[in-house]
Amino acid sequence: MSERTHIPRHVAIIMDGNGRWATLHGKKRSEGHAAGVEPVRAALRAAIRHGVEYLTLYAFSTENWGRPQPEVDALMELFCQSVVNETPELVRQGIALRMIGDRSRFSEKVQQHLAQAENATVEGKRLTLILALNYSSRDEIVRAVRELATRAITGDLAPNEICEQVIASALDTANYPDPDLLIRTSGEQRLSNFLLWQASYTELWFPEVLWPDFTEKDFDSALEEYARRDRRFGLVK
Ligand code: IPE
Ligand code: IPE
Ligand code: MG
Repeated sequence: MSERTHIPRHVAIIMDGNGRWATLHGKKRSEGHAAGVEPVRAALRAAIRHGVEYLTLYAFSTENWGRPQPEVDALMELFCQSVVNETPELVRQGIALRMIGDRSRFSEKVQQHLAQAENATVEGKRLTLILALNYSSRDEIVRAVRELATRAITGDLAPNEICEQVIASALDTANYPDPDLLIRTSGEQRLSNFLLWQASYTELWFPEVLWPDFTEKDFDSALEEYARRDRRFGLVK
């Protein structure tokens, strides 16, 4: 087997542990989130170095709206600032920024910043960075089912034409391959409503490191572990 097959095409990360990191350092939770920006840069550098094509980052779940309002506000501000500040560097590095999740719930300002960053990076060919914002898998599936039901009612889609491909193509991730490797930092071992459909055969890796402490080395370790895995997809090999 060639080296290349040991490199995941698509890595997804649940960036968890910002709050615990802040507590550990006597800081506010919002400072923990701010400290989570540099590790994103590190993950991008490592992903590009390894030739990973897609990097999906879980940045804000549909459930995260239930956090204290000051924390939600700080996160929204951080998303705006980060996409504006980082866009030139994304362009320089050939990174295309995309999003999954229901962005209609975000303020006009946040939506505008996100759209501008997507447009500015549209030519990026080296890596596609997919931010999961106001994302949850069940919400994504509900929206997909509504779309398919509407198409069925209008006569555009016969119920017996609905197959896995049709469902996959109605999801936010329609244009991307399923993740090969999913990393969740901070030692938690759960998916928290992330890519439930898409992660059917994804390799899972749960390092203890808190997201603000995540480095390129941690990404390298995850890929080393991935290379040792034997993916069988239900077959005998
Ligand atoms: C992940 O860190 C970031 C978001 C969910 C936005 P947390 O804020 O969940 O950090 P912990 O889990 O409380 O440590
Ligand atoms: C998942 O982390 C969401 C993101 C990292 C954006 P949470 O911290 O919200 O998940 P739970 O509450 O521990 O399951
Ligand atoms: Mg958490």
